[in-house]
Amino acid sequence: MFFAKSPFERLRALIGDVKPDVAPVDLAVGNPQHAPPAFIGEVLARHTGGFVGYPPIAGTANFQRAVHDFIDRRYGLDGWFREAGTLLPLSGSREGLFLAAVTARDLMEKDNPTVLFANPFYQTYIAGAHGIGAEPVPMMAGDGILPDWESVPESALDRAIAYYFGSPSNPEGRCATRAEWHALFDRAERHDFLIFADECYSEVYRESVGAPVGALEAARERPEILPRLLVFNSLSKRSNLAGMRVGFLAGAPDTIGAVREFRNQAGPQVPTPLQEVAAAVYDDEAHVVASRRLYDEKFADAARLLSPRFGEVVPEGGFFLWLDIGGDDEAATLRLWREAGVRCVPGSYLAATPRGGVNPGIGRLRLALVASPELTRGALARVADVFATAPVL
Ligand SMILES: Cc1ncc(COP(=O)(O)O)c(C=O)c1O
Repeated sequence: MFFAKSPFERLRALIGDVKPDVAPVDLAVGNPQHAPPAFIGEVLARHTGGFVGYPPIAGTANFQRAVHDFIDRRYGLDGWFREAGTLLPLSGSREGLFLAAVTARDLMEKDNPTVLFANPFYQTYIAGAHGIGAEPVPMMAGDGILPDWESVPESALDRAIAYYFGSPSNPEGRCATRAEWHALFDRAERHDFLIFADECYSEVYRESVGAPVGALEAARERPEILPRLLVFNSLSKRSNLAGMRVGFLAGAPDTIGAVREFRNQAGPQVPTPLQEVAAAVYDDEAHVVASRRLYDEKFADAARLLSPRFGEVVPEGGFFLWLDIGGDDEAATLRLWREAGVRCVPGSYLAATPRGGVNPGIGRLRLALVASPELTRGALARVADVFATAPVL
């Protein structure tokens, strides 16, 4: 397995200098465009003095409080995690996901380690494996959100030091059930690996389906799993603050201590004023509810415009359409760009081709419904028009 170019680099190369026939809309990058909470400027202005000193690596007391409150409220933990766990601020969850691989290698001490994740996957999982010289092992889908464990040799599972697990998943928008979390915990114990629970989409879900069960919620019923579990979250998707680069890592004190020790020497601290802004943002749920309603509105439009042609298109969580076009995804991407001005990602760019197998992203397109409902509706109507006739290509 090689370290591939980013899907966005490949998309740029695919599109080249082709100009669309109509005004372009970017549905390729998962960068939320809804308004962030209006109060952030005022909170930041009150804390600019905090830019003078180096920030506390473990987070300010207020950041710790607000994130603990959020976790407790969101997952109904009655203070369990506040007692049992520890937090670490992150400069967005991506750097944490990458750096945690180093901790996995140090803690697990296995020869020729592997790093597991579902295929398709978020690129940073491969980067994490690559950074520590471990073998990345993309796994084919099984039932639900869990992979087909039989699709890789048992020895690759036994050499695993970590499993990157997204719920809601990118790109499919699947959410782990309580039973699936427990099945994953069983696997982690059986093969002795850490679980990197990537929950950056935890607050983006369809109201009709309800909030996805969180890793910590499931862990409360199996507290002995906590030392194996690292939970990543961020304000990028929850609060439309991808540019602020603030997230957090949650886990057992010893595991978090190991990450903190390394990160303290290698990683960027989160600026103190931004930790204060983040605390205020975690204290507020109104903007999150408002944002979720906008996603619901856009997915209702997607169902209306695209389901007649593509069947069920609305995922339980996340903000991606993972459209099964059943044709050549690169050619379809180019066609959508040229004829509809819609920029999306070919599914095959988000997945790997397993040895002797087929890239599971082939025949799919990923469209991020991150723009305003008006812009999105217009773009989806154009997608429907382009694909109105069968076959896709
Ligand atoms: C699955 C997944 N995990 C993590 C991230 C990283 O987000 P951030 O670093 O902004 O928290 C992203 C961003 O797109 C993502 O899609």
